[in-house]
Amino acid sequence: MYSFVLLTHLLAATIWTGGHLVLALSVLPRALRQRDPQILLAFESAYEPLGMTALLVQIVTGLWMAHAMLPDVAAWFSFAPGPARLISLKLLLLGATALTALDARLRIIPDLSAATLPAMARRVVTVTVLSVAFVVVGASFRSGWLMG
Ligand code: HEM
Repeated sequence: MYSFVLLTHLLAATIWTGGHLVLALSVLPRALRQRDPQILLAFESAYEPLGMTALLVQIVTGLWMAHAMLPDVAAWFSFAPGPARLISLKLLLLGATALTALDARLRIIPDLSAATLPAMARRVVTVTVLSVAFVVVGASFRSGWLMG
């Protein structure tokens, strides 16, 4: 069961982190160069249903694996050396991702224009850096990096 959940977590990670890397490194530069927010909105409308489903899968499978690994939920917030620290980091990344995405969704996207494209770009880059950090922290469970 654990291996199946881990495989599902990995597949959804390829959609979340891979999708954001394509957005930040290929779609966003073109939208900024052409000062055309429609380029970004067209990608977002195609990617968002898949991306949000992948994020939900990440949260469910991640919390399940965290509980299998460390049933003491209070320890998840302790940043104590070992798997507890990595789970704390994952939850921190999740909180930062949710806040940045909500800010973009509620404050920037409704009136996205050529003038506000740089503000949207900063939020896209932030979520993308956070998505890569999720992978680094995830790989740390086996590599031992960041465990302290
Ligand atoms: C979009 C968000 C996320 C991404 C992209 C992501 C990505 C990854 C990756 C690439 C791994 C490495 C798997 C391996 O070594 O084979 C991993 C492992 C893990 N992730 Fe996530 N993750 C995300 C969210 C979460 C969340 C919210 C949690 C919950 C606390 C979580 C908990 C874990 C755990 C416990 C492992 C270790 C699995 C193991 O090595 O046995 N992840 N994650």
